[in-house]
Amino acid sequence: MEGSVISSYLPNKKLKVALTYNVKPEEKNFSDTTPLSPHEKSSETFNDTYAEWDTIETVNALRDALELFHDVTMIEANENAFESFKNARPDIVFNVAECANGISREAQIPAMLDMLQIPYTGSDPLTLTTCLDKARAKEVLSYHNIPTAKFLLIESLEDIANFSLKFPVMIKPVAEGSSKGIFNSSLVKNINELTERLSTNLEIYNQPFLVEEYLPGREFTVALIGNNSDTEVLPIVEINLHELPKELAPIYSYEAKWIADTRENPLNIFSCPANIDKALYEKIENIALRTYKVLRCKDWSRVDVRLDADGEPNIIEVNPLPGILPDPKDNSCFPKAARMHGLSYEEMINKVLLIAAKRYNLL
Ligand SMILES: Nc1ncnc2c1ncn2[C@@H]1O[C@H](COP(=O)(O)OP(=O)(O)OP(=O)(O)O)[C@@H](O)[C@H]1O
Ligand SMILES: [Mg+2]
Repeated sequence: MEGSVISSYLPNKKLKVALTYNVKPEEKNFSDTTPLSPHEKSSETFNDTYAEWDTIETVNALRDALELFHDVTMIEANENAFESFKNARPDIVFNVAECANGISREAQIPAMLDMLQIPYTGSDPLTLTTCLDKARAKEVLSYHNIPTAKFLLIESLEDIANFSLKFPVMIKPVAEGSSKGIFNSSLVKNINELTERLSTNLEIYNQPFLVEEYLPGREFTVALIGNNSDTEVLPIVEINLHELPKELAPIYSYEAKWIADTRENPLNIFSCPANIDKALYEKIENIALRTYKVLRCKDWSRVDVRLDADGEPNIIEVNPLPGILPDPKDNSCFPKAARMHGLSYEEMINKVLLIAAKRYNLL
């Protein structure tokens, strides 16, 4: 691309880039694009199976951005991916694949690429899997004295006997993203609700549940790009939970993300940069950077933060494969923060690629 758009991120070399991805199946199989009002349907009837996968629009936008400078091959993240990488032998892979099976799913493509010694963008298998398991990630954070809500991992209903947290609590599947399994009903007020919801949800999601103390304060998300001392914290985004319809709990749930907030009826759900005083702003930047470092994130990630009852920032979770919807009309935090930082979508994507390429000494 000519001129100003990407001038500061011009690579000095055309690379063979493979884009690896999973695309959502036909939208008729799930309902996240239907602009229903939240009370038209009960939350449990929403099918969130593919909530984490990308839309074809996102994958096309990524390809178009990379093609501005590089030769791009598309490799779908499926059982044939290993052979495809072996045959294509790209210089580097732009990885946004979430894959489908098991706790190692986000790590599967990076592990293949490590075996083939092919460079790729983003975090390594260990970081991807640790962050996917929110309980493990919280244990690492606690070791490093980074505040995160108290929690209990529930593998079966008997584990409720060990419950000693303060209500209200949030219940979430231990290893999901994009608010999969996090509904309005995930905010739980007493032991009866807890038992009832866990008994249904353990079965539906077929994985342990995290029960954690509810952080009642404001919510933020922090996009980071870079490595080591060159890591940049992009402008902090606040999630304006008070913008949600009154009947929804103040959490960024599946209903909030995908049903109450649509292209047709957008909510004013983000403020960027967050309107907070300098001291709090710096505290949030600092906790996000420390989190990025201790979890050994590479190239880019998004860190979710919420204030506790004392106004102290706590880490909710870390997303080493952040959501990146390309259309500014869709509310997507990472591209929003990048735009506020002066980066177009194309610049953001090419910047991540170059940072990764530099990490592998390709440039
Ligand atoms: N302990 C907590 N206290 C208060 N709110 C919480 C807590 N845990 C989660 N939430 C709310 O639920 C939302 C979703 O939780 P979380 O970020 O863990 O899910 P996710 O599906 O991994 O999100 P993402 O879309 O960022 O991948 C948060 O944005 C927040 O609003
Ligand atoms: Mg989150």
